[in-house]
Amino acid sequence: MSSESIEMAKNRAYKLIKEANDDLEAGRIDEAGWYQRGMAVITPAYLAGDNPRSQSGHSGDEKHWRHARSLVAEAMDRDGDFLDVGCASGHLMECVQLWAGERGVQIEPYGLDIAPELAALARRRLPQWAERIWVGNAIDWVLPRHFDYVRTGLEYVPPRRQPELVRRLLDLAVAPGGRLFLGTQSEEIARTRTQPSHEEVIASWGFRIAGSLHRPHYQDERLEYQLCWIEAGR
Ligand SMILES: C[S@@+](CC[C@H](N)C(=O)[O-])C[C@H]1O[C@@H](n2cnc3c(N)ncnc32)[C@H](O)[C@@H]1O
Repeated sequence: MSSESIEMAKNRAYKLIKEANDDLEAGRIDEAGWYQRGMAVITPAYLAGDNPRSQSGHSGDEKHWRHARSLVAEAMDRDGDFLDVGCASGHLMECVQLWAGERGVQIEPYGLDIAPELAALARRRLPQWAERIWVGNAIDWVLPRHFDYVRTGLEYVPPRRQPELVRRLLDLAVAPGGRLFLGTQSEEIARTRTQPSHEEVIASWGFRIAGSLHRPHYQDERLEYQLCWIEAGR
């Protein structure tokens, strides 16, 4: 199995991301161009979706979506508010509230997205939360307040900015004692993985991984879903 094919199985946008990363490092684009390139592909693709999952970048059905994403709700151990950094259609916001509620955990969701059209879609879908869905880039957005739980994906910023994104969200977005979730994402299972795991990479930047959840992939036995978190100091 080539490393490219496993990377494509992990993330359908792998080639796009790799090309943008290579162009950034070679100086062919600047960081603004890096974000623009991602948005130029993601925004029309998500807007063309005919259900809230595909409008959040997920190609599976409802069962698959829950299998992949509910790790976020399962990692919530008490009531609190939740900021989804990269909220797209806002579907994870509403699902996390529902899934956590099934376990007796009350969650108030908030959202941020870099793409104004996707934030607008989330506001249209979820008018009751329109005032708490914002437009901004996670790397420089001026955070209005702290949240008990914050989730993001490292791939939302160029690799060279990823440790800074984690530091920034921990310092400015997560309330004392709260959790910063990274993921969920697909990762190669430990038995065959030759690269450092997601958790090992984050730990190598000097962050202490406080916890993680893993679940077999829905349909690809080479992969698992993974979510890990870092706790903000009290
Ligand atoms: C794959 S979707 C995630 C949807 C949902 N939160 C989930 O986990 O299923 C990623 C979203 O992140 C947004 N995004 C990407 N880079 C971002 C950044 N730097 N700041 C804020 N949002 C970003 C994209 O526009 C896209 O809507």
